[in-house]
Amino acid sequence: MSKIPKHVAIIMDGNGRWAKLQGKNRVTGHQQGAKSVKEIVEEAVAQGIEYLTLYAFSTENWSRPKDEVNLLMKLLVSSLRKEFHRMVDNNIRLVSIGNIDALPTPVKDELLSVIEKTKNNTGMVLTLALNYGGKEDLTQAMRTIADKVKNSIISPEKVDESTINEHLYTRNLPPVDLLIRTSGEERISNFLLWHIAYTELYFTKTLWPDFKKEDLKEALLNYAKRERRFGKTSEQLTS
Ligand code: IPE
Ligand code: IPE
Ligand code: MG
Repeated sequence: MSKIPKHVAIIMDGNGRWAKLQGKNRVTGHQQGAKSVKEIVEEAVAQGIEYLTLYAFSTENWSRPKDEVNLLMKLLVSSLRKEFHRMVDNNIRLVSIGNIDALPTPVKDELLSVIEKTKNNTGMVLTLALNYGGKEDLTQAMRTIADKVKNSIISPEKVDESTINEHLYTRNLPPVDLLIRTSGEERISNFLLWHIAYTELYFTKTLWPDFKKEDLKEALLNYAKRERRFGKTSEQLTS
């Protein structure tokens, strides 16, 4: 099938509820969620997806209990360390979006090390959204643009959509074709805002630790049946 989305983004939600249903603590839910990440990344490569963007930690997630935040940070370091070889084997290039300067040093160091080691890979671009907020992204872009206007590097009348695009963390990513959110919640939770202007949304009740290969295939099949009109009429598209 040729209608494979070029850029898929996922809000991986439901680790806590998965754990609760199993009578386990949230830690177990996050560990199990990490296994889904591994499987979905491999399946995305197999399906020929060029860009996969995963929401791993939001600017709002700092409000969680301190222990949970620490655990999530530790899990990030160990996953990056463990999965690094698999990324190399799969020719994956890792990048990140979000304010990584505010991450704990071990997380930032591990992340930068994998980004560096995979930078010449030519396969799928795997983007981790870490300490990412759509509003924060737009804000930092506006701030930089305002500064450039002030210093006469850009003239105000030259500010257009591409100017804004070029200053976002997401500047090197194409628009998102398909956004998947697991766990039954139907909201964006401050994920990509600019980049989802014309995205197809797919919500599933499946909790993230249960989201496997077959579930991704189902989402892709659902996407393939959709008609993306981008403001045009259906007749215009078929003529
Ligand atoms: C998603 O699962 C993981 C992160 C947000 C880091 P949750 O931890 O949000 O799981 P629920 O929503 O409590 O079930
Ligand atoms: C969104 O999930 C953030 C990530 C998946 C990293 P949350 O579970 O934090 O979202 P809300 O707060 O319930 O909307
Ligand atoms: Mg949640």
